[in-house]
Amino acid sequence: MFENVQIAPPDPILGLTEMFKADPNPDKINLSVGVYQDAQGKTPVLETVKEAEKRILEQENSKGYLPMTGEPVYCAKVQELLFGEEHEIIEQKRAATAQCPGGTGALRVVGDYLHTLHPDAKIWLSNPTWANHNTIFAAAGLKCEKYEYRDAASNGLNFDAMCASIKTIPKGDVILLHGCCHNPTGIDPTPEQWSIIGDILAERGILPLVDFAYQGLAVGIEEDRAGLLELAKKVKQMFICSSFSKNFGLYRERTGALTLVADNAEQASTVMSQVKLRIRYNYSNPPSHGGQIVATVLSDSELKARWVEEVAEIRDRINEMRHLFVKTLKEKGVDQDFSSIIDQTGMFSFSGLTKEQVEQLREKFSIYIVGSGRINVAGMTRDNMDRLCEAIKSVL
Ligand code: LMR
Repeated sequence: MFENVQIAPPDPILGLTEMFKADPNPDKINLSVGVYQDAQGKTPVLETVKEAEKRILEQENSKGYLPMTGEPVYCAKVQELLFGEEHEIIEQKRAATAQCPGGTGALRVVGDYLHTLHPDAKIWLSNPTWANHNTIFAAAGLKCEKYEYRDAASNGLNFDAMCASIKTIPKGDVILLHGCCHNPTGIDPTPEQWSIIGDILAERGILPLVDFAYQGLAVGIEEDRAGLLELAKKVKQMFICSSFSKNFGLYRERTGALTLVADNAEQASTVMSQVKLRIRYNYSNPPSHGGQIVATVLSDSELKARWVEEVAEIRDRINEMRHLFVKTLKEKGVDQDFSSIIDQTGMFSFSGLTKEQVEQLREKFSIYIVGSGRINVAGMTRDNMDRLCEAIKSVL
């Protein structure tokens, strides 16, 4: 059965990491996959994560299965982080959460849920969006559509075009919105704009699915939930897929969650019962370790406070690189205006580099950037900045 199988194309993001690892050039630079690197170019384990792991090692007394929806303490902490501790959604038990293997696992479970319970619903994705969104939902059998997002001229949000295209989405369809730190552009709506988006969704009966993978990397843990909370004022029902890959650095532990918000507690548990079925036939129940780490840190006020600082250190370093990148390009006499990158948030920015320029950077300089021109600012360091900007200048 295997004779006629053709080799699959490399993944547009993770395939580049495979190429990067195989590249023998000692000066290679990886600005492709969204993984944080510190000033030394290393992806560190957070201090609070190390401390939590020590405690888990001492205290853990079973490797029995978790429930299909994961560890209840973890799920409660996820909700507190999403909405804030005393939010009415939590108090009225309108939310139900399932621990999932990464944000990706959560997205796939939502995809399966929608495909089986609402087979005619299409899912609307921003143009552009994370390369894997289309493939996850297509694999679940959903039809994907696009709504307007980025204004190419200003490299900012084209809010009018975004609203106009959302107004064409039929009732009963689903829209995926990035909670903050839009991937791949780094361009986010303001809280006022979120409120307007919420009005349109409520008026038209469109279900929001918020992909919230970067909480804390834009402005702060609490500030970054502003968009989600604006939306929650306007619509009663939504899905949220969240992840601790970036803000806890738990990439390989696959630590995410699917949270649904319903009209009331009874509806939330009914919908969750259907979600559980999809979990059971996908992966049965989630892996435990990452969730234990998050629950340990967020349940201890000192550890939590230190974690908030660690997230701030990550965010500040990325922002410093944004400024240094734009400044270094200017100093090198590059005419093209990259200054919009300073205002963008999270790990990514759209550089405006073409596919050909991206290829040249890889082939001539061992600099790895996603084909769309998306750059992972978190892969820049003071040490690689000069070489990076010199190389960009030479391909422009
Ligand atoms: C990215 O966009 O680079 C990250 O979210 C990692 C991934 O899985 O693609």
